[in-house]
Amino acid sequence: MVRLEVEVGGLRLRNPVMLASGVVGVTGKLMMRAAEAGAGAVVTKSVGPERRAGYGNPTMVEVLPESYINCMGLPNPGIDEFTEEIRVAKRGGVPVIVSVFGGSPEEFAVVAEKAEDAGADAVELNVSCPHTEVGVLEREPRVVRQVVEAVKKRVGVPVFVKLSSNVTSIVEAGRAAEEAGADAVTAINTVRAMVIDVETCRPILSNRFGGLSGAAIKPIAVRCVYELYEALKIPVIGVGGIFSWADAVEHILAGASAIQVATALTKGFSVFKELVDGIRAYLERKGFKDIREVVGAAHV
Ligand code: SIN
Repeated sequence: MVRLEVEVGGLRLRNPVMLASGVVGVTGKLMMRAAEAGAGAVVTKSVGPERRAGYGNPTMVEVLPESYINCMGLPNPGIDEFTEEIRVAKRGGVPVIVSVFGGSPEEFAVVAEKAEDAGADAVELNVSCPHTEVGVLEREPRVVRQVVEAVKKRVGVPVFVKLSSNVTSIVEAGRAAEEAGADAVTAINTVRAMVIDVETCRPILSNRFGGLSGAAIKPIAVRCVYELYEALKIPVIGVGGIFSWADAVEHILAGASAIQVATALTKGFSVFKELVDGIRAYLERKGFKDIREVVGAAHV
C-alpha cells in the first residue's frame, strides 16, 4: 500500500491534493463537498478586512483550451461575515486554510487572527493577486517580510504565502517569506494577462488586466516550484495547470510537497478522486512506497 499522507508546514493532510483558493471556496458547503469528494485540504476564497464588491462584468473569459483569464477583483463579504463559512467548511473533516489579504501588514494580521479564532487550520497570505493593489506587495521582498512577520506575531497556526511569477524573482519573494517565518509557500497565483476583442478593438475584461489560470500556465508554475524547491528549506505547494495525475506528479517531481487545483474544478468535483487515484497508481507502478520519495526527484 502506497503512503499518500503528507505534512506541509506543520499541517497533516490525508493526501496531497488540495482545493486552491478560488470560486469553490466562497461557501462552507462547497468546501465540504470538495472534502467529501476526496480533497486533502481546502483553501477558501481570499478574504479581507471588509466587504468588497470586486469588479463589474465581464470578469472571466476562456482564452485557450482549459485556460481562463479572470479579474474577479477579490470580491468577499469581509472576515467578520465569512467566519460562519469557515465553521461550516470545518465539518468536511479536512484542514481548512483561509486565504487572507489586506491593505497593510496590520490588516493581514487582523484578518488572519479572526480566521484562526473561527477555526482556520492555517492561513495562506495572498500577496500576489495580479490585478489588484494586493499584487504589488509581492514586488517588494521587504513588504512580504513585513506582512509575514505581522501575521506570525498574531497567529499560532501555520502561515503559507502565495506567490506568483509576476515578479522579477519569485525566489527573492520566497526567501523573504521564509526568513520572516513562513511555514510554506504556494506557487503560483495566476499570471498577469489580458485579452482584446478585435471587433470592438477594446480589452474584453472590465478591468482590462486579469490573471491567466489553467493549462496554459503549467510550465511556468512547474518552473517556479522547481526554483523555489532549490532555494528554500520550507515546503512548496504547487498550483497551476493541474488537470491530470501526470500534471500533479510533474509538480511533485519539481518539488511540491502538495498540490492545489482550481481551474480543473470546471470538470466537476470528481477531479479530486481522479488525481488521488492517479498519483497512487503512478507510485505503485514505479515501485515507490511513499509519496515523499518523489518530492523534488527531478532535481539532480
Ligand atoms: C480575484 O478575486 O480577483 C482573484 C484572486 C487572486 O488572483 O489572487
